[in-house]
Amino acid sequence: MGEAKAGEPVTVPSSIATERLLLRRWTSADLAPFAAMNADPVVMEHFPSTMTREESDQFVSEHIAKHFDEYGYGLWAIERRDRREFVGFAGLMWQRFDASFTPALEVGWRLSRPNWGQGFATEAATEALRIGFTDLSMDEIVSMTSPRNTRSIAVMQRLGMSRNPSDDFDHPRVPVGNPLRRHVLYRIAANDWRHHVNVRADG
Ligand SMILES: CC(C)(COP(=O)(O)OP(=O)(O)OC[C@H]1O[C@@H](n2cnc3c(N)ncnc32)[C@H](O)[C@@H]1OP(=O)(O)O)[C@@H](O)C(=O)NCCC(=O)NCCS
Repeated sequence: MGEAKAGEPVTVPSSIATERLLLRRWTSADLAPFAAMNADPVVMEHFPSTMTREESDQFVSEHIAKHFDEYGYGLWAIERRDRREFVGFAGLMWQRFDASFTPALEVGWRLSRPNWGQGFATEAATEALRIGFTDLSMDEIVSMTSPRNTRSIAVMQRLGMSRNPSDDFDHPRVPVGNPLRRHVLYRIAANDWRHHVNVRADG
């Protein structure tokens, strides 16, 4: 899989519309609603802790913005087109921590609670996978979470991703002894993605 591809320059539009959403680069107006969702213990149930405003802002400036600067794509801010309101993020991020499957391009998502249950994560991630497999020519994209995060796993399954239990791993960035350390890995290869998209289009 694509370590070499990680360094290749790509041109991905800075703003991408789906049926109900806009996936776009972040603005300073997103920081307050993003901090509010990162302070919500239900949203952050499967992460080691909630975030303070400072940590949330830093996640955007240090993590998200730098990835966009380096690769031209990343975790897009998601805006609902009907209300022009920030609802969370979804997108693609390179993972380089020490594991058998890394480096790997991960598809990920996080939405504010009022925006759960409407298909927004799946809609945004469907577009992220399309970009990954077409614009970026990836051979494979992964996603990972705690086995308890059933909502996130359901998104992975709706996207056509699948899990091999032999890929389950202990996340090196979660402290030993923390029950969130165990992770499941879902993968989708380019050919399987094409098949999944065609089956959906036919059905
Ligand atoms: C993970 C997370 C994004 C999933 O959100 P979600 O709303 O369950 O997922 P989707 O946006 O795909 O929505 C699917 C649901 O919307 C429903 N839905 C309603 N209208 C829909 C529509 N028009 N189209 C598609 N689905 C629709 C589906 O039936 C499904 O409902 P169900 O959960 O009752 O089966 C959300 O729970 C979250 O942000 N969690 C916290 C952060 C997190 O854990 N991130 C992942 C870390 S790995």
